Amino acid sequence: MVLADSMKAVVLTGHGGLEKLVIHDDLSVPKPKTNEVLIEVGACGINNTDINTRIGWYSKSVRSGTTTAGGADGIDQISEVDATWGGSTVVFPRIQGADVAGRIVAAGHGVPQKRVGERVIVDPWIRDRSHPENRSLAGYLGSERDGGFAQYTTVPEENAFVIKSNLSDAELATFPCSYSTAEHMLDRIKLQEGEKILIPGASGGVGSALIQLAKRRKAQVLAITSTSKMDMIRDLGADHVFDRNQNDLEQNIREVAPGGTVNAVADVVGGSSFSIYLNLLCRGGRYVTSGAIAGPIVELDLRTLYLKDLEMHGATVMQVGIFEKLVGYIEHGEIRPLLAKKFPISRIKRAQEEFLNKKHLGNFIILPWQ
Ligand SMILES: NC(=O)c1ccc[n+]([C@@H]2O[C@H](COP(=O)([O-])OP(=O)(O)OC[C@H]3O[C@@H](n4cnc5c(N)ncnc54)[C@H](OP(=O)(O)O)[C@@H]3O)[C@@H](O)[C@H]2O)c1
Repeated sequence: MVLADSMKAVVLTGHGGLEKLVIHDDLSVPKPKTNEVLIEVGACGINNTDINTRIGWYSKSVRSGTTTAGGADGIDQISEVDATWGGSTVVFPRIQGADVAGRIVAAGHGVPQKRVGERVIVDPWIRDRSHPENRSLAGYLGSERDGGFAQYTTVPEENAFVIKSNLSDAELATFPCSYSTAEHMLDRIKLQEGEKILIPGASGGVGSALIQLAKRRKAQVLAITSTSKMDMIRDLGADHVFDRNQNDLEQNIREVAPGGTVNAVADVVGGSSFSIYLNLLCRGGRYVTSGAIAGPIVELDLRTLYLKDLEMHGATVMQVGIFEKLVGYIEHGEIRPLLAKKFPISRIKRAQEEFLNKKHLGNFIILPWQ
């Protein structure tokens, strides 16, 4: 197979606004190292982490949610030291993009040559080869190493999962980050058949994945979304849908939820409605969070937590095995992609602007070959 020497890619040059994304068409194609494969990227999904990393939102100095303006223009005076989700600072220049679907086109030393040609979907959690279960040693594709906003990317071979599916690369690239995060959240709270789960931010990448994966477990889903998206969320399988812009959200949910409470909340929104979510939990109820798009600083009444014997969980670095399960769900058609829109790589800034407007359902995709 003859490979190109140079490629199109988007390089993040530092923390800041969209101007920090620089589009190249002549970057060197990376070479796979020992135990790595080179992937021709068919499609790569956009996630909030691309924006949060660019603007430095993870810094403790930031106390507000991810806003449309902040996501486009950047945030003033962030601390460079802690402006990443992980322990270490992001190294620039960096090619972002966590959600890769494509084809293996070269194999590094130690990788069987027969892997070349495989159609793959990539687990973005890059683990320490000797200690894969040590979550403190894990890094993320597009954050701690270059990712998929490029025509080619390299990953450790164990991260490239063969996929047998009729879905397009663009459809497959909707799954990795959102759906593995959502399944991890449901594992953390051990969601069981018949239980009631409340899902705010239901139309987003993680929210729409949570709905599908909770229904897969035969749970009862109560979803919160924007007015304009309520019908779409119902069509996706939610049993009850609530408008997040109503004044009496808590009361309305109580009236619909049998017993007036829910067993679990899977939250990526946080912000000012956080206390409502905790109030709605039953005794022994479980809350899990993996994001805080409406704001990371919330009001917690400790009495609600301890008097109701609640559990609270964070969910980011997942245990080994979740991605493999996800591949099975995709291959068996148990979950479906929600591809909101595709953009050529040259339009990545426009794609992020539209993504920040939150008018869509599901995920946005970048096509590096267009
Ligand atoms: N920990 C992890 O590993 C991990 C992984 C993936 C994502 N995340 C985080 O989880 C959060 C959501 O991710 P996502 O991919 O689902 O995002 P997304 O696709 O952008 O969806 C977020 C949704 O939240 C809802 N929302 C409610 N209040 C909002 C507000 N004030 N501003 C903007 N949106 C608001 C909107 O849905 P409605 O219109 O339906 O209300 C929006 O579409 C992000 O903060 C992301 O960084 C974390």
